[in-house]
Amino acid sequence: MTPVVESASLRFAEDVRHGLTSAPKSLPSKYFYDALGSMLFEAICLLPEYYLTRAEAEIFNTHADAIVDAARPDRLIELGSGSAMKTRILLDAVLRRRSHLEYVAIDISQSALESTAKALESEYPGLTVRRYHNDYLEGLTRLAKDSTARSSPGLPSTPDGRALALFLGSNIGNFEPAQARAFLQSIRAVLKPGDRLLLGTDLKKDATILEAAYDDALGVTAAFNLNLLARINRELAGDIAVRSFRHVAIYNEAAGRVEMHLQSRSRQTFTIGAIGLEVRMAEEETIHTESSHKFSPDEIAELARSADLAFETMWTDSARRFACSLLRVA
Ligand code: AVJ
Repeated sequence: MTPVVESASLRFAEDVRHGLTSAPKSLPSKYFYDALGSMLFEAICLLPEYYLTRAEAEIFNTHADAIVDAARPDRLIELGSGSAMKTRILLDAVLRRRSHLEYVAIDISQSALESTAKALESEYPGLTVRRYHNDYLEGLTRLAKDSTARSSPGLPSTPDGRALALFLGSNIGNFEPAQARAFLQSIRAVLKPGDRLLLGTDLKKDATILEAAYDDALGVTAAFNLNLLARINRELAGDIAVRSFRHVAIYNEAAGRVEMHLQSRSRQTFTIGAIGLEVRMAEEETIHTESSHKFSPDEIAELARSADLAFETMWTDSARRFACSLLRVA
């Protein structure tokens, strides 16, 4: 086992121990994305109920030229690149205007990162792809270090040009409001004046529509959620009876977020061998696995302002379900 892999699994073990010994119990949503979880998420994006992906793609299909003309990027930095399906619409628009572009992909899933980087390199001859297999914050930190190294004194100056950072798909919704602000500040810290951030956010809407988006008829989202327990069994020698849990998705209107939980169908005990942990659960007790925050246009503007980013333009899809905002580093 390489040191990188080892430390990643130690962190997983530590985060699982922390979450399952807390009250109420919780697990970080970033651990959904192992190889199977990443594929299940790609399947979610095809579901009729999960409108987010299609709404954002509609925005890009309609406004990619306007976005690219406003940002004029020399390089794209994508936080959570995934399969980069929607990103291709922006890449096409940039590469209609110039022959070469650098694309920096940061993703927590090694399998998604590799297959996406390889596919983009072969589809786009003008694209130079750099890969960072990290969570968002580690990825940004490593990127900032590499950029400093590339422009260190004594070396010929290698200006990185204007950057357009992409944080799409309402990935920001997984953060608590205070974390979201801090995270935007970290993005801003690695950017220069004149650089931009394109931020995708899901908009507040009827609870019925939101709950269906996170509890689809085919049960794909249920599988995506339950896979976290299967992953604990696989990677941390757990003996969790996955079928003894049910998937729950509810819109917490006061907090403005859809919450996903794993609810125990009965009183039970399970063990996680790798960390020598015995976990007891009452009937109907839940493990909170994800929050997906929803925003009003005013809240998006306020979030940007609180992170010292200048609000330039907001585009929405025709049904006003989803928003993409262009924010500028002053
Ligand atoms: C990828 C975090 C934006 O919160 O909507 C999809 C993940 N969870 N279905 C979201 C997810 C359940 C998704 N994000």
